[in-house]
Amino acid sequence: TGNSFDIRRIGGRIGAEILGVDISGDLDPAIVGEINSALLEHKALVFRDQQLDDAAQLRFASLFGELTTAHPTVPSVDGQPSILPVDGDEGIRANHWHTDVTFVRTPPKASTLRGIVVPPYGGNTLIANSAAAYQDLPEPLRELADKLWAVHTNAYDYAAPRTEKAAEHRRQFVSRTYRTVHPVVRVHPETGERGLFIGGFAQSIVGLGPSDSRDLLRLFQSYVTRPENIVRVAWTPGDVVLFDNRVTQHYAPDDYGDLPRLLHRVTVAGDVPAGVDG
Ligand code: SIN
Repeated sequence: TGNSFDIRRIGGRIGAEILGVDISGDLDPAIVGEINSALLEHKALVFRDQQLDDAAQLRFASLFGELTTAHPTVPSVDGQPSILPVDGDEGIRANHWHTDVTFVRTPPKASTLRGIVVPPYGGNTLIANSAAAYQDLPEPLRELADKLWAVHTNAYDYAAPRTEKAAEHRRQFVSRTYRTVHPVVRVHPETGERGLFIGGFAQSIVGLGPSDSRDLLRLFQSYVTRPENIVRVAWTPGDVVLFDNRVTQHYAPDDYGDLPRLLHRVTVAGDVPAGVDG
């Protein structure tokens, strides 16, 4: 392949493991370029058994651009403004399909997740290819989607939290309400690929009433979450996953009961999503 590392695909349409690179230290810019190309092609990359600490995760993520502060409303790890703890024990269980933080004007371009404590079974992360979903749409639906804009907000219609910790997390999450519009079809700024840019924070379609909005978003979303378009990543402590937030959605099944699970998330700042008309 001409790469400095091996790439092993782990899904038919999304996902690859990157083998033979230690991402804990300084990386040659040529290798960073190759990782970025692999990210554009495979959309989600898994680096096994890396054993990074917080500082190394921050350094690795910043190779792909400026970091965001961890989250607009959820507190970061103490003293580490760019690290978001994803802690199942604290009720942070992302068991809904979403793209990270799409309710702001410039959602992050990429996210890194690092497995710190993972359950012996369950607690996987599913990642979907929203460009493949767009390609799967029948032509008339593609043409319709091309013209639409969606309202994204963090104050969407959540299920009732099951625990007091989850309720507290929810209160923090919505402590300030964001609302922004993005094109339903996003043109990837680096590849030119079109992808459905919706997910859990997309609440309604501009110009449609609530029931038409819901039906249409469900229809588009059903293409994103087709099994063909998904890769399922099982965690081992030390693993790092890097995904392109501009063409993916992800989901963390809440199937591990009270078993401990802790990931650290660091996201890279992105641009204003462009639609097919710019
Ligand atoms: C997230 O949505 O950023 C967390 C995903 C996960 O918990 O696997």
